[in-house]
Amino acid sequence: MDNQRTKPANTHYDVIIIGAGASGLYCALTAGRRGRKVLVLDHANKVGKKILMSGGGRCNFTNYFVEPEHFISANQHFCKSALSRYPSWEFIGMVEQHKIAYHEREHGQLFCDDSAQDIVTMLLDECAAAGVQVRLNTQIEQVKVDENNENSKSARFQLLTCKKLSKKDIASEIKATQTNYSCESLVVATGGLSIPTMGASGLGYELAQQFGHTLASIDPSLVPFTFTDKTGELLRALAGISLPVIASNTRTSFKLPLLFTHRGLSGPAMLQLSNYWQTGEPIEINLLPDTDITALLLEHKQSHPKQLIRTVLAENTDNALPKKLLAALQTTFWEDIKDTELANIKDERLSALGATINGWQLKPSGTEGYRTAEVTRGGVTTDEVSSKTMQSKYQDGLYFIGEVLDVTGWLGGYNFQWAWASGFVCGEVV
Ligand code: FDA
Repeated sequence: MDNQRTKPANTHYDVIIIGAGASGLYCALTAGRRGRKVLVLDHANKVGKKILMSGGGRCNFTNYFVEPEHFISANQHFCKSALSRYPSWEFIGMVEQHKIAYHEREHGQLFCDDSAQDIVTMLLDECAAAGVQVRLNTQIEQVKVDENNENSKSARFQLLTCKKLSKKDIASEIKATQTNYSCESLVVATGGLSIPTMGASGLGYELAQQFGHTLASIDPSLVPFTFTDKTGELLRALAGISLPVIASNTRTSFKLPLLFTHRGLSGPAMLQLSNYWQTGEPIEINLLPDTDITALLLEHKQSHPKQLIRTVLAENTDNALPKKLLAALQTTFWEDIKDTELANIKDERLSALGATINGWQLKPSGTEGYRTAEVTRGGVTTDEVSSKTMQSKYQDGLYFIGEVLDVTGWLGGYNFQWAWASGFVCGEVV
């Protein structure tokens, strides 16, 4: 590699932001508007890759109903200040100013009518208007505090970067140029670890640790569950079926659609629950949330004693279970009495069956991991960062924003709202 490098140039900025994603770009345009000389560095070949792939390509960019309860963090209070200073209508206002058509879906989620590209274009236009420079394909090799400049805020950090060479560059023997940058404020906006193919890296966590920060345990989140053994086989056979359920564990519950997949369970209900799930824990699924199945079966035992369980479930529930699911449940839970009339089944057995359908206990073997997770739960410990400015409590001039922090939003536009809000409050002070 060394023989491919040339001597580093040196360039000074007021603010350098590492990461041209949602929070980095928002912070950049906010600081740029204040007249700060801002540079955004990213190792990817495109800005905002996760914005582009979000919301099925339509970017669920925020939510009408943003409350601190929609976020998970070791410190539940940390997100409050930024979210109240930058409410969702601020971002909606910018979207409207740029004449981006959008629509509301259930639970207040806002999506672009056309394409997530509209949001990236808007952020880039605002950055350009604010004089922000963006440099892509840039590898951060080293970050250090300039010890010769201890008393001068203006050159507090030194960054050594190297141009990332493409395979084509290497084949053409193009040399990697190194550049030294210095800045007064350094903002870490490198996001989490999910979707490594989209440029995710652990650099933000490494930098945090370099400056003495600790990390709240990091896990893939907003992610489908996987199952092995017999349950896995059962779920695989049902792949493609979707139905509204209540998914819960001991800490929370969500009434949302569930989707059976070839790997296990997905859909909004599972993604939301994954935010609150720890490895090894069971989960509970109420397959017919609007019907008390025990009461229904016992009532029918009295009124229609000759009926079979599957007939009652197929005909008398508000949202009848899909046929294939009903057949699979029968095979798993009441195969021995599938042709027995209700009158000949003990009340205790019917009650147990009702409890299973209204509270199916399952133990995921794991999740699909960072490959498909929408976010990384955990991150830079929030107690070590100012909730008002996002500045490190250990290093003046160092800031952490967005997903790299231990703040994880629910599904529904909350993670972007956190990115905009934390980027904004930081951009106001850097
Ligand atoms: P983000 O990931 O946006 O940006 C980080 C940037 O840092 C990237 O550009 C990356 O290349 C760069 N970087 C990383 N390592 C680097 C290094 N070593 N050197 C230089 N640069 C580096 N949220 C939501 O609210 N609504 C939605 O619809 C969706 N949908 C969605 C779909 C999918 C498939 C995913 C994976 C995620 C979502 N999300 C979402 C979550 C949302 O995308 C995410 O929370 C935000 O993008 C986080 O913003 P950040 O700025 O923190 O990181």
